[in-house]
Amino acid sequence: MSDFESRLSESRAFPPPESFARAARISSDGEYQRLHRLSLADPETYWAPIARELPWSKPFTEVLDWSGAPVARWFGDGELNASVACLDQHLDGPRRDKVAIHWQGEPGDRRSLTYAELSAEVNRLANALRARGVKRGDRVALYMPLVPELAAALLACARIGAAHSVVFGGFSAASLRERILDGGCTAVITADGGWRKGQVLPLKAVVDEALVGLHDVHTVLVLRRAGNEVAWSAPRDVWYHELVPSQSDACEPESMGAEDLLFLLYTSGSTGKPKGIVHTTGGYLVGAFHSMRTIFDLKEDDVYWCTADIGWITGHTYVVYGPLANGATVVLYEGAPNAPDEGRFWRIVEDYKVTIFYTAPTAIRTFMRWGDTWPKKSDLASLRLLGTVGEPINPEAWMWYREHIGQNRCPIVDTWWQTETGSAMIAPLPGVHATVPGSAMRPFFGVDAAIVDERGSEVGPNQGGFLVLRKPWPSMLRGIWGDMQRFQAGYWSRYPGMYFAGDGARRDEHGNYWILGRVDDVLNVSGHRLSTMEVESALVSHAAVVEAAVVARPDDVTGEAIVAFVTLGPGHEAGDTLTAALKAHVTREIGALARPAEIRFTQSLPKTRSGKIMRRLLRDVAAGRESTGDTSTLEDLSVLARLRKDEE
Ligand code: WTA
Repeated sequence: MSDFESRLSESRAFPPPESFARAARISSDGEYQRLHRLSLADPETYWAPIARELPWSKPFTEVLDWSGAPVARWFGDGELNASVACLDQHLDGPRRDKVAIHWQGEPGDRRSLTYAELSAEVNRLANALRARGVKRGDRVALYMPLVPELAAALLACARIGAAHSVVFGGFSAASLRERILDGGCTAVITADGGWRKGQVLPLKAVVDEALVGLHDVHTVLVLRRAGNEVAWSAPRDVWYHELVPSQSDACEPESMGAEDLLFLLYTSGSTGKPKGIVHTTGGYLVGAFHSMRTIFDLKEDDVYWCTADIGWITGHTYVVYGPLANGATVVLYEGAPNAPDEGRFWRIVEDYKVTIFYTAPTAIRTFMRWGDTWPKKSDLASLRLLGTVGEPINPEAWMWYREHIGQNRCPIVDTWWQTETGSAMIAPLPGVHATVPGSAMRPFFGVDAAIVDERGSEVGPNQGGFLVLRKPWPSMLRGIWGDMQRFQAGYWSRYPGMYFAGDGARRDEHGNYWILGRVDDVLNVSGHRLSTMEVESALVSHAAVVEAAVVARPDDVTGEAIVAFVTLGPGHEAGDTLTAALKAHVTREIGALARPAEIRFTQSLPKTRSGKIMRRLLRDVAAGRESTGDTSTLEDLSVLARLRKDEE
């Protein structure tokens, strides 16, 4: 039981179109390999010139100091300001009047802000925060809808040296309160409400509830967005429109140490209280800046849309810091993909002529369920590159994405990374690698990935094991806020000297990486450790299935038996015939070992708010147990309730 058995095989591979490869920033495997070797053998030589492309107020002389492992120092004696890197550096040339953000509100309202306009807004907001007494070293919680002011708020905090802690607008008052308390936030920026599926999410009311009795929060700055009524607590509460527009649009940035805190972002462990992941300024920005342009092959005239909310790390790195540090044009959309109908995303792609589109497997599987008539209604010819992140992508979902969104023309970059890693760690280079459906492909520059067994020895090709990173990288987390012991224990103790990511993976004979899911989710059938992801992908490769989640329940004979929760595509009927067909299908695709003991059909699966399937809850349902532990990240409890009811 020292590793995972990995049984799914995939023989399809898609090289980039020749025209794409020819124009790509990196287009030969030789160059990728040479640079990758250099980045591991001599990180200083590799990273220093890249970092120097950012505007430093005080140039660094040292690159990496790993003597305090596992807390790295990158560019440690340098100083810079993240908002200057994202805004001011673009203002002296043609990017000044280039659109930084095209924004679309759910009700249909639109705004486009140039770099000059965004910079002015950030400076006014930064001045407003200073006027309210927010200063360098403070922490500010942001609880907002997906509006341009949220991007501005991150950068305004950065400008005055206050760290931001963004809490996704779907979290409850209790979750928000816990994060405000843990981070020691003294100010909150929010909005009256935000739009989601035609309804107003009352954000300010949630903030009010979260703050009951918390007297350390001296300011709540409230953006008027949805026009809903809000309660008011003076002098703590202040309207954005009453304070910000009258401020000066010039604001002196703080010169921040490279290792000064840029932000906290909370991520829930599978159990226990959420962890405030610590990211600092210099290394994080270098990682975001470099991976953005390289993995997404960013060009000056791209229109780039990452559908993630800014409340997740994907939104921090690939909606705000990465694209803006590169002077890119980004698209932001406030609402749901099916408001007012399932064609919304594709109309946005057509309207703004989006060239790069980055989303999550959970969204792709949802699009599959809605059917390919929706993307067909819009002109998607502007797209040239697609991306995915957040979960392993089932090969059939990948193929659907390639065919129906990418029109068999666009390379797909499947990017593996984590809140903790700050930027993408394993991903293809779209102009180089022949991508394989379901594989995240190759380690990015500076990433020394390996797959090891229980004892920490590297396993051979196609053997599953634990994914580790063996060398420090610039955008790595610097700790868990207020709990360095948990940082040490959670990530660095299992294999001394290596970062343990908590994911299972294998590397195939070509050197491509396959992420097999969280190690906590592994199945153990008759002594074989199987990846949930592979059984799920086998199910999804059946024509009737669009989404599947597989868990184990205790079994007297086999130790654990596989229970599969399955959602069906349009026009398919649940029933005994399909159950038998699906069991036979898995047996054919993987082997009798992986044959589910039970198939349960469901309307939808319980997911975290960022769209990851919560197998932990399904395990309880499968075993007939009450679920325990933290459910603050559950997207839709009614889903779970429905599953339980189905049982009765
Ligand atoms: C999973 C998101 C497979 C993985 C940036 C990881 C993935 C966790 C992929 C981090 C991918 C993310 N393929 N699995 N391309 N990307 N994951 O912190 O289990 O929200 O450890 O960061 O998501 O999730 P987080």
